[in-house]
Amino acid sequence: MKTAKVSLKTSLPVDMEKELNKQVRMEGMSSFYYLAMASWCETKGYINSATFLYHHFEEEKAHMMKIFRYINEMGGHAVVPAFGEVKLEYTSLKDVFEHILEHEIAVTKSINNIVDFCFQVKDFSTLHFLQWYVNEQREEEAIARRNLEIFDIIGEAGQGIWLIDQEIGNMLKQILAKETAKEGAAAA
Ligand SMILES: [Fe+2]
Ligand SMILES: [Fe+2]
Repeated sequence: MKTAKVSLKTSLPVDMEKELNKQVRMEGMSSFYYLAMASWCETKGYINSATFLYHHFEEEKAHMMKIFRYINEMGGHAVVPAFGEVKLEYTSLKDVFEHILEHEIAVTKSINNIVDFCFQVKDFSTLHFLQWYVNEQREEEAIARRNLEIFDIIGEAGQGIWLIDQEIGNMLKQILAKETAKEGAAAA
C-alpha cells in the first residue's frame, strides 16, 4: 500500500500534537500552582501577593487555552488533561516566590524543547506560534527574579515582609500598565 506523503486531516507533524498537548497540561498545571499559592498567601494576610498570584493564575489559564485552540486549528485534537495534585502549603512568602522562579525556568526549558523539535521536523507554523511563548517566558523569568530580589533588598525582618508584600503589589501595577499599553498599541 502506498503511504500518503501528507495527512489531509492535520497540518501538525507526527508527535507535534503530543508535544503541544503536553504543554497544554504544563500551562494548566501552572495556573493551578499559582491559584494554590494565591490562596496560601491570602490565608496568611499577604493580600498584594495574593492579588498578584490570582492575576497570574488567569494568565496561565490563557496560555493553556492559546495552545489548546492552536492544536485544533491545525487539525489536531486538543485534549483536556488530567491535572494532578498541587502543592498547597509553603513555609514562607519567599518560599512561594522561589518555587515560582524554579517553575518558570522549567516551563522555559519545555518550550525550548518544543522549539527545537519544530526545527527537527520543519514545522515552521508551530515555530512561529511558539515565538510568543519564548518572549513570554523571558518576561516571566525576569519578573520572578525581580520579585526574589525584593526580598534581598528589603529584608524580611520586622516590617520588611509587609513592605515586600507592598512591592509585589507595585510589581502587579507595572505589569497591568504594560498590558494596557500593549492592548492600546494593538488596537491602534
Ligand atoms: Fe505560561
Ligand atoms: Fe508562567
